[in-house]
Amino acid sequence: MRRPLFIANWKMHKTAAETQLFARTFELSAASPCDVVICAPFTALPVLTDVAFDVGAQNFYPEASGAYTGEISLAMLSELGVTYVLTGHSERRQLFRESDALIAEKYRYAAAHGFYPVLCVGEPEDVRSQGQAVVHCTRQLAQVFSPVETLKRPEKIIIAYEPIWAIGTGKTATPEDAQDMCAHLRNALSDLLGESVAQTALFLYGGSVKTDNIASLMMQPDVDGVLVGGASLEAEQFAELIKKGCAVIG
Ligand code: PGA
Repeated sequence: MRRPLFIANWKMHKTAAETQLFARTFELSAASPCDVVICAPFTALPVLTDVAFDVGAQNFYPEASGAYTGEISLAMLSELGVTYVLTGHSERRQLFRESDALIAEKYRYAAAHGFYPVLCVGEPEDVRSQGQAVVHCTRQLAQVFSPVETLKRPEKIIIAYEPIWAIGTGKTATPEDAQDMCAHLRNALSDLLGESVAQTALFLYGGSVKTDNIASLMMQPDVDGVLVGGASLEAEQFAELIKKGCAVIG
């Protein structure tokens, strides 16, 4: 049984004071059959203690310490209660020129250090229109999960399919497209790591997820959760989105 996962990616939004306000108003049902993670900016992390959800970071550097100006280590994040880290987000790939090699190194490093890395994959619009979306995303997946000899598998494998053309644009992939890609990626993971690993891995969809499309996305058999940007910033709206998504699971 895969436990549904709702991850908020706040990107560069919210000061510590704004985060405090969010935490005060964000209400989760204790009986919810879903897991919730908020990936907040670094300066907001110390505010997110004694909260009813897990806390994630949006970035880190895969070294213990050293001369890496501007970077942050997993030990520093761990002290703040962070257990999840995003890797391979398209904004890191495009704006900060993170290469496939660096993303693979970061994913593997976080997994080896007991974190839950979330691997984001996704195609640009022209790749989709050329019918190459599955090939593109499968290649991004394989960059991280092969060769398997040097991979220490995290306790939970989490892959987020985020088509670049759907991020922050209001254009969501159809539930069928999301299902289709997640099913393809699960098969690809099965080829690399075996069927039982693939069946327990969580596949999320991300890209303009909102309260009015969450139910149809969560109804898809291979969509185990969502990665939410804009619609996670307002406490009541995000709580409503989780409630609606969880209701589909029952
Ligand atoms: P969005 O962002 O929900 O605002 O489209 C998703 C993401 O980038 O993770």
